[in-house]
Amino acid sequence: MWLWEEQGGLLASFSFLFVLLLILTRSPFNSCLFTFSFYLLLRFLSFEPVPSRRALQVLRPRGRISAIAHRAGGHDAPENTLAAIREAAKNGATGVELDIEFTADGVPVLMHDETVDRTTDGTGRLRDLTFADVRKLNPAANHRLKKNFPGEKIPTLKEAIVECLHHNLTIYFDVKSHATMAADALKHMYMEFPKLYNVSVVCSFMPEVIYKMRQADRNVVTALTHRPWSLSYFGDGKRRFDSLWKHFLYMLLDILLDWSLHNVLWYLCGVSAFLMQKDFVSTAYLKRWSAKGIHVIAWTVNTYEEKKFYESHLQSSYITDSMLEDCSPHF
Ligand SMILES: *[C@@H]1O[C@H](CO)[C@@H](O)[C@H](O)[C@H]1NC(C)=O
Ligand SMILES: *[C@@H]1O[C@H](CO)[C@@H](O)[C@H](O)[C@H]1NC(C)=O
Repeated sequence: MWLWEEQGGLLASFSFLFVLLLILTRSPFNSCLFTFSFYLLLRFLSFEPVPSRRALQVLRPRGRISAIAHRAGGHDAPENTLAAIREAAKNGATGVELDIEFTADGVPVLMHDETVDRTTDGTGRLRDLTFADVRKLNPAANHRLKKNFPGEKIPTLKEAIVECLHHNLTIYFDVKSHATMAADALKHMYMEFPKLYNVSVVCSFMPEVIYKMRQADRNVVTALTHRPWSLSYFGDGKRRFDSLWKHFLYMLLDILLDWSLHNVLWYLCGVSAFLMQKDFVSTAYLKRWSAKGIHVIAWTVNTYEEKKFYESHLQSSYITDSMLEDCSPHF
C-alpha cells in the first residue's frame, strides 16, 4: 500500500530495498552484497505454497465466493461454540473462523480472549484455569440470545472440528499466541482428520505462527491476517498508547510490518491467502495479490450492502459476524 510494488514477485521489493540501502550507505558494493545475501537467505528459508488447485478447493469450495462466520458467527449465537457452528451451517455459511487457545493443562479449546470474563460466567485468565474448570463455565452467559442456547460448553478443538466436518464447513483456524503449542496441536488434528487438508486454513496475525505451522506440516493451507496500523491503534480506532513517543514508535513499526507482510513475509511463509481488514480491500488491492497467486479475504463484512459489494463487485470472499442481519463489528 504505501511502499508497494506494481508487479507480483519479489523483484520490486528487492529493488526498493537496494535503493534504500544505497541511499543509507552510499556504497553500491555493500548495498548489492546485502540485498543479494538477503535474497538468498529468503529463498533458502522460505516455504513453497501448497499447490494452487488445493488452495482453490479450500478457499473457494465449489468455485464460489465464501461467506465465513467470524468466531462461528458471534452475533447469531454464542461465539466459538458448537451451537454457533450449527447455526452458521443452518444459515448458509461456507465456513467458520474459530479461535484456538489453551487451558492451564494444555488442552486446545475454542476461546477468543486471554480471559474468560467477556464471554462466560467465570473470571480469570484461561492459562490459569484447567480444562475441568473451563468445562464448568457457560460460554453463552453474556450473549444477547443466551436463552436460546442453554447447556452450551466451551468446546475442545477436536469437538469443533468434528462438528464442522459433519456440516461440510470450511474451517479458518485463527491462532493468536502459543505458536509452538498451536502448530503441534493442529499438526495432530491434520494427522487424525486428513480431510482437513482439503477443507481448512490456518491463519494468524503473527507470521511466526504460520512459519511454525509450515515447519510442522508444509501441506497445510495457510493465511496471514492483517489490519494496517494494528500495533498503534485498536480495532475501534482508539490509540493504544497515550505517550506520544511510544505512539509514533509503534506507528513506525506498523509501517515496517505492513511493508514486510506485503513484500517478504508472504513469500517466506508461502501463504495461500491474505486476510485483510475490509476498509483496505479494493479492486486494485485484489489485483496486486492475485498477481502473486494469493487470495484475499476481507473481514469483517457486516452489512447487506457491503456483502453484496464484496460478492458481485470485488468477487472476494469475506468473514462476517452475522449470516442473518446487519450488525456492528465485534473487535
Ligand atoms: C456433506 O457433503 C457430502 C458429500 O459432499 C454429502 O454427502 C453430505 O450430505 C453433506 N452433508 C451436509 C450436512 O451437508
Ligand atoms: C482432497 O481432495 C482431492 C481432490 O479433490 C482428493 O483427490 C483427495 O482424496 C482429498 N483428500 C482427502 C483426505 O479427502
